[in-house]
Amino acid sequence: MNVTILGTGYVGLTTGVCLAFLGHKVTCADPVAEKIAMLEGGAVPFHEPFLADLLAEARCNLKFTTEYAHAIPGAQVIFIAVGTPPGQNGSPDLKYLQAAARGIGEHMDATFTVVVNKSTVPIGSGNWVGALVRDAFEKRNGRKPHTSFAVASNPEFLREGSALHDSLYPDRVVIGADEEQTAEVLYTLYRPILDQTFQPPPFLPRPEELGAVPLISTDLASAELIKYAANAFLALKISYINEIGLLSEKVGADIAQVAKGIGLDARIGTRFLQAGIGWGGSCFGKDTAALVATAAEYGLEMPIVQSARDVNRRQRERVIEKLLGELRILKGRTIGLLGLAFKPHTDDLREAPAIDIARKLIERGARVKAHDPVAMDRFRRDHPELCDVACCDSPEQVIRDCDAVVLVTEWPQYRELDWEPLAKSMRTAVMLDGRLALDRSRLSRAGFRYLGLAC
Ligand SMILES: NC(=O)c1ccc[n+]([C@@H]2O[C@H](COP(=O)([O-])OP(=O)(O)OC[C@H]3O[C@@H](n4cnc5c(N)ncnc54)[C@H](O)[C@@H]3O)[C@@H](O)[C@H]2O)c1
Repeated sequence: MNVTILGTGYVGLTTGVCLAFLGHKVTCADPVAEKIAMLEGGAVPFHEPFLADLLAEARCNLKFTTEYAHAIPGAQVIFIAVGTPPGQNGSPDLKYLQAAARGIGEHMDATFTVVVNKSTVPIGSGNWVGALVRDAFEKRNGRKPHTSFAVASNPEFLREGSALHDSLYPDRVVIGADEEQTAEVLYTLYRPILDQTFQPPPFLPRPEELGAVPLISTDLASAELIKYAANAFLALKISYINEIGLLSEKVGADIAQVAKGIGLDARIGTRFLQAGIGWGGSCFGKDTAALVATAAEYGLEMPIVQSARDVNRRQRERVIEKLLGELRILKGRTIGLLGLAFKPHTDDLREAPAIDIARKLIERGARVKAHDPVAMDRFRRDHPELCDVACCDSPEQVIRDCDAVVLVTEWPQYRELDWEPLAKSMRTAVMLDGRLALDRSRLSRAGFRYLGLAC
């Protein structure tokens, strides 16, 4: 099929490359000329494991452009995968979505096109996008578009860091459409994924246990709500274990054991039950805020979701409290941060806890040093306000001469450092393990005073 993707960020590019790999003819459009130039040269503008490799494999089915005039006419399916960043009062800012919908309407031809909202959008956006496309078409052509397009919702559940795996081997595919004919187009598009009939790329083998992928076929509003409700549930699972972690610390329990004991109950599950600094990233914060804001429009409160947000915010404060409890004074102290990205295997810094923590430490007069395996360049570029943070080339360089180090992002390479000489290289060998990812007894043997966020 002829597919167009609007937006070449984490979601749009991953979707485009996967669909091209499956044999569809894909055009990816993005107004940022630098990104398009990089992509044309085979480079990926952000860090996502194996994406450049799959792009190379699927290159013959991919085109990149900054021009809607080259991307929209003739497309049978158009995915909108533009950003929906946090706006005012918790609602997302929909200006990119609006521009994309208008651009589609202005450039659409007589081809029957399914316009798919893949961006996470507020409930009701399907209808809104439809109206914007129709109005723009009418303005440009002086007549109504009749039946030449339909709108569907296909929320995305990929995780940065394993985006390709999640796209090729998803837990489920959700398609929201108000007409069967519209949904049918997307079933055809996704058939190789739903039936798992494609030959996996050598670097992304199919999980052995995976059979057919479940399809949830529903109306537009339900599909839109599924995305928000899923993210809010994951967010509150993390906040729940962090709340239990707080009590665990008071009563002297081991939160890792508590989480395991809870999670092995098949009704609960072990994933998203790691106590620590809490969530960050571009989705959980903005999507929980959007859910609360949508509910408010209907006169509803969402106290559970709101509490999950409050608990998450508190966890970042707790890092400062723990350091204060240990060092008494932060002014003039040197604190090292291991990890800046909001989670391992990505360079995404949106709502990353490290940014907040660095800011709070600097406000209190501390000196901050930091390292991240892939996010340093982005940090320097996107956070000029944190130019006082000393960017280090290695974790060893961060740790040297520090009064305390905080493990903020649990990159695997931070688990296996040569701890003994590192402890000796510090002014005071304090390690605050913000992700409960380090081997406590190993660090203690190496001479560290080990502090966990919930122990
Ligand atoms: N990142 C994730 O893990 C993830 C997961 C699931 C869902 N989502 C949702 O997917 C959407 C996209 O997220 P992302 O992380 O890929 O965002 P992103 O910021 O990485 O990418 C958005 C891209 O859209 C481009 N863009 C802006 N206006 C455009 C326009 N008018 N036409 C074409 N392109 C345009 C931008 O230049 C950018 O490259 C958001 O709604 C997000 O909530 C994200």
